[in-house]
Amino acid sequence: MSKTINQMEPWYGKEEKKAILEYLNSGGWLMEFKKTEEFEKMICDYTGAKYCSVVSNGTISLFLALKALGIKDGDEVIVPDYTMIATPNTVVMAGARPVFVDVDETFCLNPDLVSKAITSKTKAIIHVSINGRAGGFDKLRSVCKKKKIYLIEDAAQSLGSFHKGKHLGRFGEFGSFSFSVPKIITTGQGGALITDSKELYEKVEKLKDFGRVKSGVDSHDAMGWNFKFTDLQAVLGIEQMKKLPGRAKRKKAMLALYHKLLKDVKEIKFIETSSGTSPWFIDVLVPDPKALQSYLKERGIGSRLFYPAIHTQPIYETVKGKFPVATSIGNHGLWLPSSSFLKDSDIKFICKEISGFYKLLK
Ligand SMILES: Cc1ncc(COP(=O)(O)O)c(C=O)c1O
Repeated sequence: MSKTINQMEPWYGKEEKKAILEYLNSGGWLMEFKKTEEFEKMICDYTGAKYCSVVSNGTISLFLALKALGIKDGDEVIVPDYTMIATPNTVVMAGARPVFVDVDETFCLNPDLVSKAITSKTKAIIHVSINGRAGGFDKLRSVCKKKKIYLIEDAAQSLGSFHKGKHLGRFGEFGSFSFSVPKIITTGQGGALITDSKELYEKVEKLKDFGRVKSGVDSHDAMGWNFKFTDLQAVLGIEQMKKLPGRAKRKKAMLALYHKLLKDVKEIKFIETSSGTSPWFIDVLVPDPKALQSYLKERGIGSRLFYPAIHTQPIYETVKGKFPVATSIGNHGLWLPSSSFLKDSDIKFICKEISGFYKLLK
């Protein structure tokens, strides 16, 4: 039987197993403590950020960023219509209203449309660097500066990706990451916020720990919850962080190989990607992604349809407006196998099958 290639799989090895065993044998208390601090320091060192708070997941990290910035009832937060559902949901969770704006061909917010969507109630913009791409980021940053609007970067998919030499997530008030299973590194669940502001960092640390005046003290002078991490996960995260530079490099090489092998298949459209991007997933636009997906599935090759545009989701059906680019991306996008451990021979096999599919249609 030939092997199955999943669209994405977590990747951990003997290093993670050894570290977890050592930690358990040491009698560690499992909860957030020194190992989490070590993991946070590694994220700071890698991204260049001054501060990092690791939290339960990449949804909670966005929520905490909004709360730390004082986003509340009646405020508006601009989000892209093409993103993972967590982005707008966290705005709702914070009591504010997500205002949807279409994306451009980079899959990121269209900065010209953002300018038009700003009202007196707009307090923040969440820029989502889809698949490690910055998009029209520089323009967006100047809009935020001019209008005095907070910029939050949802960089959930962008660990390992840089814009003009600076790590994504470092351009706004906060950068938010996710360590869920399909990400470039994983801790099962997990998220992180990076910032250069000591004040914002301290607010997040308090919000994630029941609003305690001081860690370990049952005195509370602010509202807060429990969005802490665990040292058990941090042990995994530390080992995964050591592997991040190698994986980021491999992702770039994988995209280049897919490009090379599929360059003559005119039905496959790749998205422009800068040299700083380490693509989390190999993303392509095709005429009929479901047809290609089922053909590949029969041959043991996994793939995943892009997120549908948010305004087409039943939960957001009351959203008004036109989002032609997000709609089209949602209808035509397919993520091809992207696990960092894939060998060149796997990618050759996948691309041969994709080419075969389009030859059959001729
Ligand atoms: C752009 C984006 N934002 C937020 C999230 C949510 O992260 P988590 O699954 O860790 O809550 C994801 C997860 O895939 C994502 O892709």
